[in-house]
Amino acid sequence: MPARPVEFSPELISLLRGGPKVVALTGAGVSQESGLRTFRDAQTGLWAQYKPTELASPEAFQRDPKLVWDWYAWRREAVKGVRPNPGHYALVEIEQRLPHFTLITQNVDNLHRFAGSQNVLELHGNIQRVRCADCYTFTETWDDDTESVPRCRVCNGLLRPDVVWFGESLPRDQLEAAVTAARSCDVFFSIGTSGVVQPAASLAFAAHNRGAVVVEINAEPTPLTPKADYVFEGKSGELLPELVEAIWG
Ligand code: OAD
Repeated sequence: MPARPVEFSPELISLLRGGPKVVALTGAGVSQESGLRTFRDAQTGLWAQYKPTELASPEAFQRDPKLVWDWYAWRREAVKGVRPNPGHYALVEIEQRLPHFTLITQNVDNLHRFAGSQNVLELHGNIQRVRCADCYTFTETWDDDTESVPRCRVCNGLLRPDVVWFGESLPRDQLEAAVTAARSCDVFFSIGTSGVVQPAASLAFAAHNRGAVVVEINAEPTPLTPKADYVFEGKSGELLPELVEAIWG
């Protein structure tokens, strides 16, 4: 038997129909239905013995650059094979329908842009971009040598993915724009994120403290749940299209 459609509150629907300023923060849960494992899921195969949190750090790269490079090469390949899911497309539609909409993502998988979202702030970078660890020059191509990490053509530094590792600062322009959007929005959506990694997690609280209506869409409760005005527990790939349908269908 198909699951009963979720009942969104009439107040929320009418608020969203009125064209408020909306911010949506997404996390790995949004990509889960595309077949990507969330950050905290156990890894498989060759990589099962490593914890992602132990590979995604400058110290890990310093200790064993090749191991970290190979892990990202493997993840880059995994991402290439996946497609956006209905949750990503619902967010594209929301952007097209609302005059003021900012999408902030912690995901590095590029799936929001792939789906067609235009205004995307990437707080943790993008796994498809590669740059020099020393001089920051971006590169589209590199010599993939099986023995060592490819090097920068400008300064001979090691190449690395343009993602934010634990202990590194977030890209300043993206973070500043995200904070400004969160502080000035009327409605803040937190979608598919465990809300435990700062400073992204604090954006929802900043919005809440400024009086925004906070809506959480997540598979399970998070530290934000008690503060949220509306909580929809379930899959974003199902709930977001249902929400779009309820507002504009
Ligand atoms: P997590 O893996 O911590 O959390 C994913 C959340 O999505 C969990 O709360 C799941 O319950 C929920 N979830 C899973 N499947 C879902 C679905 N289909 N629909 C809705 N929710 C679902 O991922 P993030 O919160 O994104 O940072 O993690 C934040 C950051 O932690 C990542 O960007 C990464 C990591 O450290 C860096 O790499 C810097």
